[in-house]
Amino acid sequence: MSLKFTPTAPSQLSPSGILDLSPEAGDLIADGLAGLQRSTKTLPSKYFYDKRGSELFETITTLPEYYVTRTELDIMAESASEMGALLGEHGLLIEFGSGSGQKTRELLSALPEPAGCILIDISKSALSGSIEKLEEAFPSLPIFGVCADYTRSLQLPEVGTNAKRRIAYFPGSTLGNFSNHEARVFLQRTAALLGPGGALLLGVDRVKAVGLLERAYDDARGVTAAFNFNLLTQLNANGANFVLDRFRHSAVFNAAESRVEMHLVSQVEQTVELGSATIRFDAGESIRTEMSHKYTLEAIRELAGSADMTLEHHWSDKQDWFSVCYLSCR
Ligand code: AVI
Repeated sequence: MSLKFTPTAPSQLSPSGILDLSPEAGDLIADGLAGLQRSTKTLPSKYFYDKRGSELFETITTLPEYYVTRTELDIMAESASEMGALLGEHGLLIEFGSGSGQKTRELLSALPEPAGCILIDISKSALSGSIEKLEEAFPSLPIFGVCADYTRSLQLPEVGTNAKRRIAYFPGSTLGNFSNHEARVFLQRTAALLGPGGALLLGVDRVKAVGLLERAYDDARGVTAAFNFNLLTQLNANGANFVLDRFRHSAVFNAAESRVEMHLVSQVEQTVELGSATIRFDAGESIRTEMSHKYTLEAIRELAGSADMTLEHHWSDKQDWFSVCYLSCR
């Protein structure tokens, strides 16, 4: 894997300020098949976010059980000015995921004289929408987009060359959805992209009482269950024949791996047709659909160290449920 950062000429930016690196669209059936043919069955969580899945996720972020989003928002509202002061002036903000939301606006408002902002997202339409909204809020700030899969090596447009440092922002505890190996590789690539002196503001969900964690992923209204089942609905729309009520949603905290796992558990012994294959399920056999890692500060310190980064500071809520961590590149 390459950790090299290759800048791109400004002329490769479209008139709307987007550098299109043509990210590969995933193959739901091929990836689904690969996961379901493993001895421990899995489905890739990246496919949650089709139109319906994205709407369901938006609803999840407002649920009383899902403390994650509101806790992080509160931290940003309370501490963004302190973050801005620590990060310093003339920073070029690089956000993974196209942030036009409140958290990004809080941070941008708090950064002293930012040199610009680059949003990276796999969806070009999400990117255009976010750029438009941010331009409305920050009319004099240079804002650019990179249409790319940020879990892969990527290039940045050659903008903000007068910036004092590059500051990456990865909120939402999305890092928690990566495997530990993927998280390490992501941080290593980010460090290479930022260069020495760069900074990463990373939102992470903390380890807490098991009941709180499991309820956050199995809410009373069943929105998270619907979000989980949407994977099977999408497979069915592509020719599979899952009978949805032969499965049940489950969310369990795996203490050994420090993560909440979402599963779809087969209620009966059954077979399902997918692509050219027949998948057999025992009664009680499950498909793991998502991992959501929960961190101690020690684990973050160690993860940062594996990417030659240092945990400089963290801002947390009173209950230590969530932290926004400031990692610096050595
Ligand atoms: C996007 N990600 C950080 C969410 C999480 O908490 O792991 C996805 C999610 N899955 C179920 N609820 C929320």
